[in-house]
Amino acid sequence: MKILFVASEAYPLVKTGGLGDVLYSLPHALHARGADVRLVLPGYRALLRQLDQVRVLGWLDVRGAEGIVSARVLETRHPDYAFPLWVVDCPALFDREGNPYVDESGQDWPDNAERFAVFARVAALLAQDALELGWLPAVVHTHDWQTGLTAAFLADQPTRPKTVFTIHNLAYGGNFTHSDFVRLQLPGHWWSSEGVEFHGGFSMLKAGIVYADVVTTVSPTYAAEICTPAFGCGLDGLLRSRQHKLHGILNGIDTTVWNPSTDAHLPAHYSVGRIQPGKRCNKQALLERFLPHVDDAALQAPLLGLVGRLVEQKGIDWILAATPVLLAETDVRMVLLGSGQAVYVKKLLRLAKQHPERLFVTIGYDEPLAHQIEAGADMFLMPSRFEPCGLNQMYSLRYGTPPIVYKTGGLADTVVDANAVTLDDASATGFVFDTPGAPAFLAAIHRALDLYRQPKLWRRLKQTGMRQSFDWSDSAGHYLALYSL
Ligand code: ADP
Ligand code: GLC
Repeated sequence: MKILFVASEAYPLVKTGGLGDVLYSLPHALHARGADVRLVLPGYRALLRQLDQVRVLGWLDVRGAEGIVSARVLETRHPDYAFPLWVVDCPALFDREGNPYVDESGQDWPDNAERFAVFARVAALLAQDALELGWLPAVVHTHDWQTGLTAAFLADQPTRPKTVFTIHNLAYGGNFTHSDFVRLQLPGHWWSSEGVEFHGGFSMLKAGIVYADVVTTVSPTYAAEICTPAFGCGLDGLLRSRQHKLHGILNGIDTTVWNPSTDAHLPAHYSVGRIQPGKRCNKQALLERFLPHVDDAALQAPLLGLVGRLVEQKGIDWILAATPVLLAETDVRMVLLGSGQAVYVKKLLRLAKQHPERLFVTIGYDEPLAHQIEAGADMFLMPSRFEPCGLNQMYSLRYGTPPIVYKTGGLADTVVDANAVTLDDASATGFVFDTPGAPAFLAAIHRALDLYRQPKLWRRLKQTGMRQSFDWSDSAGHYLALYSL
């Protein structure tokens, strides 16, 4: 089966979060099952710089905001990819420094509507083999708002491939104005509340939901949550009316990239059969990165880790409220890595300055350090308010670092709370709290600290987490079944 993936990021070329991980690992899982896959990405400057051996497939002229935009379509073979990548090279829209979506000050690029409308138009043409390459996909699988218009453009075609739209995060709507809609000359019949219109403007995410043949999201619990007003971001009514085509499929993780027994970013390796001394060695190395002298007290004390985007979704305000209490009442050390909203950055750095021996904060994006935290920490903090799937908690389970999570979305689907019953039957893998807010989060951390002091139970908790299978086999099978419906 020929499947065209359309996405705005893919590891390791360009990644801002879990979307990038999934766009690497899901197409590979399908390729391994015999699918004939292509992945099309925007030609960001940072991405183009990493390519060699590029072949020009052709040019496609599409409507932009000020007239016709000419896009060069490139094909490349990347050493980490088992199938060809296609790149939409359009310098005026993508050849710039920095993040795919925001400028240096964290503001959305002002021409995002045009950037992703053009990308979606080109992708829709490629899906119809407009370049006459002799490669016509049976399925076009698009991801998040940046690609939402692809399904809409294709829906207008008499013959076309099946379209699948995956919501990785409903909170990012790709919302733009009516004047953007007009300038981009989007089809007038889309402009209705049954189409793309949303609160006086239009939403590219909504376009994907309305016009794709199949809509998926990345965990079963999130699929149910987004149909409720509390999680629906104003689209819950629409999603309820589309429940017949809405499916929740849990993400997998790439078990070759995230494997504590082979991970090249780690100073020492370990596996479920022999966790120590490898894991302890990772903890020591991680502490040494931040402390000139690592004494026994620091080595014995529980080390709490966090990696993630510093945004409201991730419960960073709960972290900020819990941290001073934890530092005052317990002996924990904490190591946090993230980038995001300036207000959180400022508050975290201020706290770290007050506790230089106990709280280690790194602001920025650092892939090796993310791996080292997963391996070196004793527990992993992920108190997300909502979490479509979440990959970090699965990485932490695999790395023997029990996660402490709020009971929502994919977190609820992947972590088993440690209580008398689950500890007894050895199904516990972490700590789950079910009331939103810092007090319940703190209580869960205290439960984790209690268990940490009981080495036998703690070892069993780690082992159970490490034995969980979160690879793509089941989920890839679900996607293939949907493609063939
Ligand atoms: P989300 O996609 O909502 O950000 P996920 O848990 O699904 O959350 O995926 C986050 C991915 O991004 C993980 O691979 C994580 O390691 C990575 N990540 C997030 N922030 C950073 C950072 N500051 N440095 C390195 N990796 C990061
Ligand atoms: C989004 C979600 C995250 C999910 C990731 C990959 O970024 O916030 O929960 O794991 O996409 O699907």
